[in-house]
Amino acid sequence: MNFPDILTLFYIDKSTMSKIAADFSDQITQATSGNSSCLQALSSYLTPATGLEKGNYLAIDFGGTNIRVSAVSLQGNGRCSLLTEARRPLRDPNKTYDLTSSDLSGSELFDFVASLVKQVYSQYPARQLGLTFSYPMQQEGVNRARLLRWTKELKPRETVGRNIDTMLMEALARHGLAHLTLQAVINDTVACFLTGSYYNQAVVAGSICGTGHNTCCLHPFSPDEPEVIINLESGNFDRLPRNHYDQMLDLVSDNPGQQYFEKMVSGKYLGELLRLIYMDITEQGVLPQPEGDRFKYPFTIGAEVVGWLHDNPHSKLVWQWTQQAGLTLQPDQLFFLQDISSAIVKRAIHLIAASYLGILSSRLAVNPAPVIAVDGSVFQHMPGFTAGIENLLNSELAGSHPRLLMTPDGSIIGAAVAAARL
Ligand code: BGC
Repeated sequence: MNFPDILTLFYIDKSTMSKIAADFSDQITQATSGNSSCLQALSSYLTPATGLEKGNYLAIDFGGTNIRVSAVSLQGNGRCSLLTEARRPLRDPNKTYDLTSSDLSGSELFDFVASLVKQVYSQYPARQLGLTFSYPMQQEGVNRARLLRWTKELKPRETVGRNIDTMLMEALARHGLAHLTLQAVINDTVACFLTGSYYNQAVVAGSICGTGHNTCCLHPFSPDEPEVIINLESGNFDRLPRNHYDQMLDLVSDNPGQQYFEKMVSGKYLGELLRLIYMDITEQGVLPQPEGDRFKYPFTIGAEVVGWLHDNPHSKLVWQWTQQAGLTLQPDQLFFLQDISSAIVKRAIHLIAASYLGILSSRLAVNPAPVIAVDGSVFQHMPGFTAGIENLLNSELAGSHPRLLMTPDGSIIGAAVAAARL
């Protein structure tokens, strides 16, 4: 495949974007009507935050990269403080443990979480607990949820189909913490929504682009009741123009055939797309072979590298990366990698914007200035990502003023806000 062809493969034009937005909206309608859909309408049983929530809580963020526990103090009127925290990566860089291993059992995983809760509780003995859990689950109430499947990094044994609340409470009991009350179990997009609405009442959706990708929005389950936040599990959206690099990526992933949207936009996969393209064009002699086995194995280029190249191929960060990879690249080769990285990033921006258009289009009559709360490493660190999505939304929805609201620590604060809602 030659260079211009590769860039074309990642280009999303205006009409494709409109088609994706319409398909996304249609799939939401199917999911909320109980029909078959690549999206889901998983109720959180929660309405947006009022901003008046108060109290001290223990909050757990069970994410795709780290597990983090904090004590959070909510003071109402959108004010809050994080009092302390214990945070561990899913995989220890010094290789003393690996929570992503398929040999791990559910009890071992939740014992790990409970030990972090114990550490924080010993300093701030708040008794009420909120859990943000960044994987698909079927809620049976605000604080009860059954694990549907693992996406992204984890695959422990004896967990799918079980209640996350039960597994956590059993582990807490083994750590002498049976007296804690689990007030809420929520998806990370819902946590982001709640954090956003704690600060700003115009929030109508919450979205994460970090290791994984997903969005939640509001849905009126009953005409007499307020709208409820629903998790769409939109990383699984599949009405998308996938190219052969997307197909190759799917085959090397842990979950072929699933999470097509997530695999085109999220932090776990952006670097892998670059690696697949790099290896392809290296075979044609356009770019030099890396040293030894450097890029031979999947997932050996991170999303941050895509961001550095997209931003400035002559930066110190890119230079350090080429040194580590044993690459000597000419200026035109660096520009070539910049164009590819930018194509990957711009496609992600267009696809996410299209999905937001699918959510917002039906709300503009009621709310012409909607806010989408966002969080995750790609939103935080990918140059031009948030602004790019916001610009596209504004140009597509002329006359209204959609805005993205970054909610740093959204998963932790949202867990506390959810715990305070009862
Ligand atoms: C999970 C979602 C989660 C998203 C962002 C996806 O892989 O299925 O539940 O919200 O990642 O963390």
